Formats: sequence, structure tokens, C-alpha cells
Amino acid sequence: MTVRIEPSILSADFANMESELQRIASADLVHVDVMDNHFVPNLTFGPAMVERVQATSPVPLDVHLMIEDPDRWAPDYAELGAHSVTFHAEAAADPVSLARRLRSIGARAGLGIKPGTDVAPYLELLEEFDQILVMTVEPGFGGQSFMADMMPKVSAVRDAVRGAGLDVWLQVDGGITVETIAAASAAGADTFVAGSSVYATPDPGAAIAELRAAAAAHSH
Ligand code: DX5
Ligand code: ZN
Repeated sequence: MTVRIEPSILSADFANMESELQRIASADLVHVDVMDNHFVPNLTFGPAMVERVQATSPVPLDVHLMIEDPDRWAPDYAELGAHSVTFHAEAAADPVSLARRLRSIGARAGLGIKPGTDVAPYLELLEEFDQILVMTVEPGFGGQSFMADMMPKVSAVRDAVRGAGLDVWLQVDGGITVETIAAASAAGADTFVAGSSVYATPDPGAAIAELRAAAAAHSH
């Protein structure tokens, strides 16, 4: 299975975003956490900032919307050129319509699932999405501990994707390190978000390579 590593700029130095993006040029995509202080108790940035990141980044953008009313806001991120836009199942009024709208603009459509949310109702809608994001922390902050008890959920999505013969990326986000990535990969994830474990090291390029190797070693 193809392994994708996505550093999260939530852990980057916001005052030096251009050079922080250059430090992760060997990544597959860059993960951009948009938070509105309503869906999660934290506030990051909105479309104006993401547009500048899009213009500056050496790799495509994967936008993770932790916001209320994504039906209203998510298309703006597709319009500005994000490669993928993930909104949360818990926040969307009409996930299928929104995913279709994102795809019609030319973005990949992602569906995010919080730790307390059952994924089962969404497994019959997989063909509507390009990516399923299984959160492995409560969304809102970087640097939290990986929730290993989410691995059965990851495996359930992997089985459903395989069973349906679809090429839906399966992403995990939260607490991913060179240690925890093994369990996530073994459970069937193929796309790994890593904030602090990439940016809190002196050599993000080396961290990306180590994460990639550890994931590949456990992928099947
Ligand atoms: C958390 C965000 C994550 C965050 C992960 O709500 O969605 O993308 O940046 O940070 P780490 O890898 O430090 O857990
Ligand atoms: Zn995220």
C-alpha cells in the first residue's frame, strides 16, 4: 500500500510559515488544521491564510476543517486550490451533498470522524469520499497522546474500503510518532498526519523519512 506522510503546520512556527513549509518539501502533502473555536476549543486560521500557504507550499494541501457549518465554508477551500478538503461528519448538515460539491470544484473530499463517533453509518457511503479521517486524539490541539483504542475503527474502514474495491485513502491524525505509526499502519491506515513529531525535531526531513519507513514496514 502507498504510504503518505503529511506534516501538520499546526506545530510550525506561524511567523515563519514560508521557511517552515520548505522544511517539509519531502512530504506527500501538508496538513492544514482550520479551527473555529466552536467545533473545537481552539482557533487557528481561515481562508486568507490558507490561500497564502497554498501559494507558497512545495507540496499539495490537505485541509482539515474542524469547524461548524462546513456546508457553508468548505467549498471556499476547494476553490482556493486545496488538493483535499476534509470536513467532520459531526458538523456537516449534508455530508454527501457537500462531498459532491467539493469534488465538482476539483478537490478530493474527506470525511473526518471524532473518537466518540461511530463510523458504521458512513461505511455505506464510501464511494462519495476520497478520504476517511479517523481521529486518534480529540481534535483541537497538537501534542496529545495517540488513542490506540481507535485501531478497531481504522480496521473497520480498511475492511469496508477493500470490500468495496475502492481507492479511498484512510488517514489517521493525532499522536502519530515513529512508535505509534506501526499500529496505525498495521490496522490499515495509509495516510499519516504528524505535527509535533515532525516539527519538534531539528531535521523534519529525517523525521518524515523515519515515519515513512516505519509505516511501510507494518503496511499490508
Ligand atoms: C489536532 C489536529 C492535528 C494535530 C496533530 O486536532 O487535527 O492535525 O496537528 O498534532 P500531533 O501530531 O502533534 O498530535
Ligand atoms: Zn488535523
